[in-house]
Amino acid sequence: MYSSPLPKNITEKIADKPCVSDTVGESDSTVLIFKDCVLKIEPTNENADREYAALQWLQTRLSVPKILAFAQENGRNLLLMSKLNGTMACDALAKNIPYTVQALADGLKTLWHMDISDCPLYSTLDIRLRQAKQNIENGSVDTEDFEPQTLSSNGFSDIHALYAYLVQNQPAADLVFTHGDYCLPNIFIEDGKAVGFLDLGKAGIADRWQDIALCVRSLEHNICHFCGLPKSEFLRAKELLYTKLGITEDPEKLKYYILLDELF
Ligand SMILES: Nc1ncnc2c1ncn2[C@@H]1O[C@H](COP(=O)(O)OP(=O)(O)OP(=O)(O)O)[C@@H](O)[C@H]1O
Ligand SMILES: [Mg+2]
Repeated sequence: MYSSPLPKNITEKIADKPCVSDTVGESDSTVLIFKDCVLKIEPTNENADREYAALQWLQTRLSVPKILAFAQENGRNLLLMSKLNGTMACDALAKNIPYTVQALADGLKTLWHMDISDCPLYSTLDIRLRQAKQNIENGSVDTEDFEPQTLSSNGFSDIHALYAYLVQNQPAADLVFTHGDYCLPNIFIEDGKAVGFLDLGKAGIADRWQDIALCVRSLEHNICHFCGLPKSEFLRAKELLYTKLGITEDPEKLKYYILLDELF
């Protein structure tokens, strides 16, 4: 199950305990789920390093997995962490949409209430656009994963045109602490509350629509594609999310942050 031997500080914690491999994540990481801990092995890169830094800073500030051991060797980051309680929001959604939306709104409000005055993690647009440019240059942008309309006759001609649009149309920032990839498989919920946040490589100070936009997009994917429900169900869930958050839709920011995420 492992491509090469694991470092001692990791093996001494997991010994030869049984595990299953996660099938939810889509990145090139390997996630091994044990009874009470999880081992995430990723190629060493900026995102993986930022994930570890974010987890370190958040240990005492937010409900994130506890770091049990960490190693960096042979071009890999190995992070052994505690297993979160609760249910992945995408699993809960299939059973009860309003309950899940309520918990997702609760999670966003928890993030917005965090004190960012001493936060060393920045994910502002200057940083995200630099990373997006790097992703284009090193060929890691997968246009197969794009929303169908992004590269269409009504959309952009190619990823360079999309990037130019993002650079030229940066919206004014309303900064809060953001998760950075607030999609349903990354949020664990229980009793109508968000009880755990994971996959934090893009976490940091950014505009609040970074998270709202990806939450809305993820609600649509899960409700319409995975649950096979009509679009009206998604629109109802989106309105409920805004009501619970006490906001109205900002169509420009919603569109902008969904487009930005195409380049990651
Ligand atoms: N600490 C944890 N506790 C419980 N489940 C976890 C934990 N870490 C990972 N998982 C499970 O593994 C899945 C994938 O983990 P994660 O999102 O960190 O990996 P990823 O490969 O980066 O995914 P993505 O495709 O979202 O980038 C999660 O959605 C969750 O179901
Ligand atoms: Mg994930």
